[in-house]
Amino acid sequence: TAYDEPLRGQFHFSSQQGWMNDPNGLVYANGLYHFFYQHNPHGLAWDTMHWGHATSPDLVHWTQKPIALEPGVHPGDLWSGGGVVDKANTSGLKTGSLDPIVVFSNTDGVSVFYSNDNGRTFQAYDKGRKVVTVPAGVTSRDPKVFWDAARNRWAMVVWSDQGGNGVSIYTSPNLLNWTFASRFQASWLFECPDLYVLPLDGRADQQQWVLTSASGQYEVGTFDGTTFRTTWTQPQQMNLGTTYAGGSFYAAETFTNTPDGRTVQMAWQGGNQGSTWTGDATFPVTLGLVSTPDGPRITRTPVAELSSLASDTRTWQNQTIDASTGGNLLSDVKADTYEITAQFDVTGATATQFGFDLHARADGTEDRRVAYDTAAQTLYGKPLPPRSGKVSIQLLVDRGQLEIFADSYRYSLSDNVAFDSSAASQGIRLFATGGRVKLDSLTFARLGSSWGTGQPTQSTLDSNLGGPWH
Ligand code: FRU
Repeated sequence: TAYDEPLRGQFHFSSQQGWMNDPNGLVYANGLYHFFYQHNPHGLAWDTMHWGHATSPDLVHWTQKPIALEPGVHPGDLWSGGGVVDKANTSGLKTGSLDPIVVFSNTDGVSVFYSNDNGRTFQAYDKGRKVVTVPAGVTSRDPKVFWDAARNRWAMVVWSDQGGNGVSIYTSPNLLNWTFASRFQASWLFECPDLYVLPLDGRADQQQWVLTSASGQYEVGTFDGTTFRTTWTQPQQMNLGTTYAGGSFYAAETFTNTPDGRTVQMAWQGGNQGSTWTGDATFPVTLGLVSTPDGPRITRTPVAELSSLASDTRTWQNQTIDASTGGNLLSDVKADTYEITAQFDVTGATATQFGFDLHARADGTEDRRVAYDTAAQTLYGKPLPPRSGKVSIQLLVDRGQLEIFADSYRYSLSDNVAFDSSAASQGIRLFATGGRVKLDSLTFARLGSSWGTGQPTQSTLDSNLGGPWH
């Protein structure tokens, strides 16, 4: 199938064909999670942006769908934006029995597109007329819309360079008429803003607002329906990968209307390319917010549905790993795509480094080493101070993609690794160098494929377009 190529993610989303960049219009509607994305179906490089589309019942198993927005059919530039479900039909755009999906796109002003058949087809509202306009000479794009429950109305954040980088905030009763509310100016805010509410330390009475930007920077503050205010002077980084366009973490967006109120986020993980596709998504995470002495911090936890892909689970407990025993625990495991969860006790550790060699070979080489440095207190080169003497790590290893989560999910890092998926390179080595470290617990699980047998054929997908993609 199209999903068998060496670097093709098995449990990370990528477009069946063509180029993908930013996630767009992430919504849960009519029983499905919808993933739209910046897409060039005609080649492997960025060009003539369309909105590609895929759906999932569980954020883990994906089905490719035909193009949702196509230049020529849908007016405008069709660049990035968000989406909502208009359950109460505030827009009056609803025609059938399904909840309408309403998405926002375009550049230098915002156009509205809506679907009454759960994302199969989209119509332009008022021929694509811009419902938000900007002064000539101002560059503006990437509208993200959400329901502001406390004010009983919609709100939008949209990036623009008016007077420097920042976001403009607008409000609307009906998704179609928008009123300028305020401007949040900040040099770090560039492209793809998102604004959402998270409970601090899981407490429903401690709602905080989080404003994020394409490069994964965020600020925590308050939103009174008009203005976002932050008390923290320095934005924080929510992912430690390469956070620029085309890097391994960019243009993250959160789903609206999730059935359980979770805030679920996916980002563009650029850089990987096969013979039929370019670009991946990061694995969906549930966002949380925890207090620390330095201020509130985002946590990014892979969605629990991940476990539905797991098999062949093996666990170990209370082991000492040292230079001679390291590697023995996992020596008979051979795997291509998998998850490792481990907790080490670094109190009294004499090892200078410990961790995992991924896609290890019999000759002692590996495709990637994930090491904790006990003196520097870094994991994979990024700060990770032990918490109560423990270092906890979760690794998601996919073809072409490595995601590392640690420090109770305060630490996350998405990286591209050209893992060799051939049988001779499927070893895993648990190692310690220069001494020993105590391993409290270790779990290994194989992770299966997101791609069911029901994927549409290429000709089915092409029939929705002006012509074949190649
Ligand atoms: C971010 C971005 C957005 C824009 C889109 C175009 O990667 O540059 O600002 O809307 O990509 O594809």
